[in-house]
Amino acid sequence: MSDLILVRNQGAIRFISMNRPDKLNAMSESLVDDLARELHVADDDQGVAVIVITGEGRAFSAGADLSDWDADNPAPAREVAAGLTRVMGFYGQLVAMNTPLIAAVQGYVLGGGCNLAISCDLVVAGQSAIFGYPEVRLGLAATGVTPTLVHQIGRKAAFELLTLCDNIDAEKALALGMINRIVADDQVLSEATKMAEQLASFNADALWLTKQTLRRAADLPLGKAIELGLDMGFTAKMYQ
Ligand code: COA
Repeated sequence: MSDLILVRNQGAIRFISMNRPDKLNAMSESLVDDLARELHVADDDQGVAVIVITGEGRAFSAGADLSDWDADNPAPAREVAAGLTRVMGFYGQLVAMNTPLIAAVQGYVLGGGCNLAISCDLVVAGQSAIFGYPEVRLGLAATGVTPTLVHQIGRKAAFELLTLCDNIDAEKALALGMINRIVADDQVLSEATKMAEQLASFNADALWLTKQTLRRAADLPLGKAIELGLDMGFTAKMYQ
């Protein structure tokens, strides 16, 4: 494993941390690949009840790594397509995870970093966290992050964030439903750990089936979602 991602266990909780603090955890291809791999490993591990995702240093993540990006010399279309396919695969992986995910965020939470955070089931933020989607302001089409954001917060709010590109504070992010809790900056990890411990204390199958039902029901019309709830209820009986 590279040192771009730090992994540690505390009981049944796996902490997975992005470790590029000098670059505000900008999400390079290698960082995304390593993070995706560690999430797969954790999701396959029966001993892991909850995953907490964090970023080392003063920012959770400043989003996509822009160090090789040159507005005047765009990368070849195939290269762009390959990069986008990789990152969309990553967002798809996040929503398909069986294990509950908690994001513990502080400082800048931008672009792809914001998408990573809001893809988690629960988000705890420090009071001075800053959220935003700078892509369009930079001249980049925000195609990668738009699907998750609009699913999470709806059209009007997503359009505003994606196109006016103004950063928002934690209070606004809470009001929009992007995060669950705001705590003092130095309490983010302990609050996320407390939530993880609470989840880990419950029946793992009940949690898993509830998470899967919620994920699938959110994307269905209500009638279909109710049928799904019934089917998942029968599935649940098999585990009791
Ligand atoms: N990609 C690559 N490197 C990044 C980065 C990114 N998205 N965001 C920050 N960094 C790097 C900086 O280049 C700098 O590296 P250096 O010390 O080697 O010069 C380091 O992280 C610290 O960033 P810095 O800009 O000095 O910190 P700041 O507190 O003054 O500003 C931000 C913080 C987040 C406002 C600023 O870094 C920024 O605007 N980053 C880009 C955010 C962005 O547009 N994300 C892409 C979304 S598609």
